[in-house]
Amino acid sequence: MTDIDAKFSGQFRIGGELPINRLGFGAMRITGPGVWGEPENHQEAVDVLRRLPELGVNFIDTADSYGPFVSEDLIAEALAPYQGLTIATKGGLVRPGLTEGQWPQIGDPHYLGQAVRMSLRRLKVEQIDLWQLHRIDPKVPAIEQFEAIRSFIDQGFIRFAGLSQVSVAEIEAARKIFPVATVQNRYNLVDRADEDVLDYCEAKGIGFIPWFPLAAGELAKPGGMIDTLAQAKNATPGQIALAWMLKRSPVMLPIPGTSRVAHLEENVAGAAVTLSDDEFRQLDQLSLPS
Ligand SMILES: NC(=O)c1ccc[n+]([C@@H]2O[C@H](COP(=O)([O-])OP(=O)(O)OC[C@H]3O[C@@H](n4cnc5c(N)ncnc54)[C@H](OP(=O)(O)O)[C@@H]3O)[C@@H](O)[C@H]2O)c1
Repeated sequence: MTDIDAKFSGQFRIGGELPINRLGFGAMRITGPGVWGEPENHQEAVDVLRRLPELGVNFIDTADSYGPFVSEDLIAEALAPYQGLTIATKGGLVRPGLTEGQWPQIGDPHYLGQAVRMSLRRLKVEQIDLWQLHRIDPKVPAIEQFEAIRSFIDQGFIRFAGLSQVSVAEIEAARKIFPVATVQNRYNLVDRADEDVLDYCEAKGIGFIPWFPLAAGELAKPGGMIDTLAQAKNATPGQIALAWMLKRSPVMLPIPGTSRVAHLEENVAGAAVTLSDDEFRQLDQLSLPS
């Protein structure tokens, strides 16, 4: 038994059906440097993944491009067959390695179809719980990409589908073709350009998965703007950043990523940190876009 438990973050039902604890895990950081290749410490990556269900984390986000393939392979190695775990993956980006940090989109429906079926194989599942289009490819008509997703649902390859880094207009266009269960956009306490997307998702009951929830660890560092409040509440800055997000909206599903068991435990302990309305407002004012 542990008092560190993601259940304290509350529950959300993906697509109105599939229940998860709102504080999830982002599995991008269990790969090698630059999200390329094998992790430097394979055993620690497996240990992080196996610690998740013990801490009540039952929602894991990954993508075929993390590694590429390494993150999905590790998840299967550590956790398949999954019991009570919801694995969300993504497709539509590739890693040609021409320049560092280049992640070009491929929205050709044939390619997306192969991506989905390869994720099924790597994750060792018969159906993917949640498959997200990593980016809409501007070179391909968006409707063709949405229709491909519709066909993946109809064929039973995926149960629910989501989008990533999209505008309200794009979500509305997609919803005409398939039910958009989740949206994954960059969002955190100090990066709130997508408030309108979050508000839209909340109004429609769409899960909002903020990536970069700790600003790649910046928000977890001592000495920052939330340190004073963190100290007063006997919490860490990262836990305050997560607590703020969880209070911001009932559809918020943060997925902090880490390669270390100790950081994972610290992040999940953040699920039990609660902010008063005043504390929430104080942080809100500090970080509202100017
Ligand atoms: N849809 C998209 O386009 C997209 C883009 C990027 C990411 N994502 C998803 O979002 C997830 C989260 O994003 P992210 O990993 O970029 O950013 P993040 O969760 O904000 O930050 C992760 C970084 O913070 C550090 N960290 C985590 N917990 C910490 C703690 N308690 N104390 C100190 N440092 C800590 C980690 O280093 P250590 O390993 O040393 O702990 C890691 O480098 C990813 O894993 C991925 O699933 C999606």
